[in-house]
Amino acid sequence: MKNEIKNICCIGAGYVGGPTMAVIADKCSHINVNVVDINKERIASWNNTDTSRIPIYEPGLSSIVERCRGKNLHFSTDVVKHIKEADMIFISVNTPTKVKGIGAGKASDLKYVEACAREVAKHATNHTIVVEKSTLPVRTAEVIKTILKEAQVNPEKKSSTPTFEVLSNPEFLAEGTAIKDLNEPDRVLIGGESKEAIDALSDVYRNWVAEDKILHTNIWSSELAKLTANAFLAQRVSSINSIAAICESTGADVREVSRAIGTDNRIGSKFLASGPGFGGSCFKKDILNLVYLSNYFGLPEVADFWEAVVHMNTWHQHRISKLIVQKLFGTLSNKKIIILGFAFKANTNDTRESAAIQICKNLLEEGAVLSIHDPIVDPKQIENDLRLDHENKNHAYEGRWSSTNDLSNIFDNAHAVVILTEWQEYSQVNWLEVSKVMQKPGWIFDARSIVNRQKVINSGLNLWLLGDGT
Ligand code: NAD
Ligand code: UGA
Repeated sequence: MKNEIKNICCIGAGYVGGPTMAVIADKCSHINVNVVDINKERIASWNNTDTSRIPIYEPGLSSIVERCRGKNLHFSTDVVKHIKEADMIFISVNTPTKVKGIGAGKASDLKYVEACAREVAKHATNHTIVVEKSTLPVRTAEVIKTILKEAQVNPEKKSSTPTFEVLSNPEFLAEGTAIKDLNEPDRVLIGGESKEAIDALSDVYRNWVAEDKILHTNIWSSELAKLTANAFLAQRVSSINSIAAICESTGADVREVSRAIGTDNRIGSKFLASGPGFGGSCFKKDILNLVYLSNYFGLPEVADFWEAVVHMNTWHQHRISKLIVQKLFGTLSNKKIIILGFAFKANTNDTRESAAIQICKNLLEEGAVLSIHDPIVDPKQIENDLRLDHENKNHAYEGRWSSTNDLSNIFDNAHAVVILTEWQEYSQVNWLEVSKVMQKPGWIFDARSIVNRQKVINSGLNLWLLGDGT
């Protein structure tokens, strides 16, 4: 039986569900795409007539929403209605790390995924292909299948018994380049058993992705490949950050080391930029999930190997904070420090697990007064991120930091500037002008290699460049 997809429902209108479905709608005008979420505010924001105010900042996204919304792309809170109508349902909900119970601190919390499977089981009407888009522990498809099977046994007085197929189709987009990654993916991965279902999903992608880029695997390989890809990427960042520390002690320069090893095409040049430590909602979560699975399957050495990637990242963030204290004569008490960048990388408004959160908390703990700048991040988000950690009594920081989206006059009387996100505008700061209004000696700490070294030195300011031991 050929399954022709006409109605897609995506549960979860977040960083993955929103952009992914926008691109599917844009490329497949014959498919009606409904993105649903229980978060009313988020859906209202996706429906904002001013598309520059949709909830997710991604270059190129607002123009797609402008083009497709109201035609074949819709955002709604009516989860039940769109489950009923759909012949393919993507589950794109969040899968955070569990905070309590078995596996707390490591295992993924699957409560949102399970809730979706139950909703689908309850309301689906005909033959429905359920696609795991969220990043999930290996063998989650089994849980989803079991829940859906129950619906077939006990179809709750529905006129027809629904039938289901489950596929894994993990998403590899990176924030900040999501639209480009979705338009020109390195590969699309589809894991599953049913040839018909795999063909139906492949047909959707074939509208814009070349055949040789659509990979088919078994469902467990697909689930594990997603965790593995993130673990390998994060491991490269931790590796180069560990080398940055050695560079600083030996007279080497991490940029030169990266270039030297990156030209070896077995190693490759990507993901070798030393920075303040990886952030984002997924690297840490997915590695910890892999650590949990390794222990669960009786492989503690494998677990330790991957956990070291996360330990290195945390150590690296604390190392940068300590170094700032040391350079400023061992005390930050009442010293004004400018933080440039709060997002976990440039071109996104996402701050989840951003290195800036830990580093700002460390500096506040040392008594600093922070002026935080980010061109896109909502100041309310920064407030939320710096307040969250109740254990460390962060309420004590109230009044000790401020945030702004505007760079003018921010540098007045500052003792130091710390660059934590590689926003383009930071490379254009006029350091000569800045040095005139800063305290002396003034320090620039560049954790993103974005400043022009010579211009900073010529301005009379001191410069610490991550991984620069020269
Ligand atoms: P997100 O938190 O931005 O969005 C998830 C959305 O799901 C939220 O809006 C939430 O309200 C909604 N939701 C939760 N339960 C629901 C339910 N029962 N019914 C309807 N809506 C519900 O998360 P995200 O960043 O989009 O990530 C989603 C998944 O994709 C995660 O598993 C993540 O690991 C994976 N992933 C994320 C990225 C990324 O760049 N953020 C990239 C690849 C994969
Ligand atoms: C990452 C992966 O790149 C995506 O393929 C994956 O889909 C996604 O996670 C996910 O599953 O959520 P993302 O977190 O959006 O994407 O961004 P990355 O570009 O991977 O950056 C992650 C972190 O590593 C950032 O803090 C970034 O600044 C840091 N990084 C990255 C470096 O410090 N150096 C580098 O060379 C590259």
